[in-house]
Amino acid sequence: MPGGAGDDEGRGMDPEAQVHRGAAALLAANWCEAADGRWGYTRPDPFKYPDQFLWDSCMCAVAWAHVDPARARRELRSLAAAQRPDGHIGHTVFWRGPVRWNRALAYNVVRRRDPATWTIQPPLLGWAWARVHERAPDEGFRVRGVRVLGRLHAWLERERAGPDGLLGILQPDESGLDATPAYDRPLGWRAHPRPGFLLLVQANRRRRFSYRRAVAAGAFHAVDVLVNTAWALSWHGLARLGVTGAEDRAREVTAAIVRRLYDPDRGIFFPRGPGGRPLRVATWAGLAPLALPGLPEEVGRRLVGEHLLHPGRFGLPWPVPSVSADEPSFRPGDTGWPIRRYWRGPSWPFTPPFLVPGLLRLGEHGAARDLVGRLVAQAAREGFREYHDPVSGRGLGGRAFAPGAVLLDLMALTAPGRPARSG
Ligand code: GLC
Repeated sequence: MPGGAGDDEGRGMDPEAQVHRGAAALLAANWCEAADGRWGYTRPDPFKYPDQFLWDSCMCAVAWAHVDPARARRELRSLAAAQRPDGHIGHTVFWRGPVRWNRALAYNVVRRRDPATWTIQPPLLGWAWARVHERAPDEGFRVRGVRVLGRLHAWLERERAGPDGLLGILQPDESGLDATPAYDRPLGWRAHPRPGFLLLVQANRRRRFSYRRAVAAGAFHAVDVLVNTAWALSWHGLARLGVTGAEDRAREVTAAIVRRLYDPDRGIFFPRGPGGRPLRVATWAGLAPLALPGLPEEVGRRLVGEHLLHPGRFGLPWPVPSVSADEPSFRPGDTGWPIRRYWRGPSWPFTPPFLVPGLLRLGEHGAARDLVGRLVAQAAREGFREYHDPVSGRGLGGRAFAPGAVLLDLMALTAPGRPARSG
């Protein structure tokens, strides 16, 4: 079973070695490429998600950097190859052919034959590009990254940024956290993937998925914590790729995130919904700014002490739950029928790459190693599943989920004696 760190051949190995071996096999099994070399990427799951997803690809590239850096570069170059002339890179790229007929209505495309969605996903490209370059420097790759990211960041600023530099989203799936309870209140029956969600997509399709037009029409929109954390990380990445001024932008975005999205009463970050109202549901996205090097230390310490490690909130046995256990909306297992509602409690592999570097930066090495140790034990036991129950540890969703291989990076960051390079 290529997806499983817990496969039969791996039994008897120590869990870390088992995870290494399983992650490398999983990345290789999920890889696909064009015969003419135009694209090559890791399918998040060959059956469930055969297309190229932006933040999944960023995670896979960082994982590939530990196994085969040339593949890591190809993965990100494929995203670059999907960049539109105006700079946009879609949430999902359909290299293998257009969206299936039965899916076209629900997808964020204007025409069925569009090569990618018109929507965004957390813009982690700068983070991933810098991380891959740092592990295996390649000047051509660096230069290409600076060009691609320059155009992408310019598009995001033009189309999505408010006066404070923070980006807006026009659908909850743009946050990467499709059915997060954070947006239950403003969306109601139009929440992902309820029937009304199709109407939200339909209305945005008519506006050609223009955020500015959605805002002008008084439609749903939000300033999301995770998207803006990724935005600041992408600027940091650009700075590490050698672009002057990018570090200042990263610091400005970080300061705006703290100013606008931090709740000093609760000690956690909340998104702002239509009308600028804070949406006070404690989800893991509220902890994601831990990833930011410029986060004030006292804010980081509260995120960790009062939330991440709190046993009644996010400090559950199989971390990191996507919703705080003390929220009424928290569900540790699968929820939603006939279509699952994601990110309402289970732990997903996209989360720890934001939190582990933050713990290390705060000097919480023991907590960082403990978190990674639990993830390793979980993957060794259950394989690389799409998400898992934070209480029982049971693996759920897709069975060969490649973004989980990013655990290789977290193992390297927390390995004893290794200097942590974070951000
Ligand atoms: C689900 C997740 C999203 C991810 C996609 C592909 O839709 O919510 O974050 O990118 O699957 O794995």
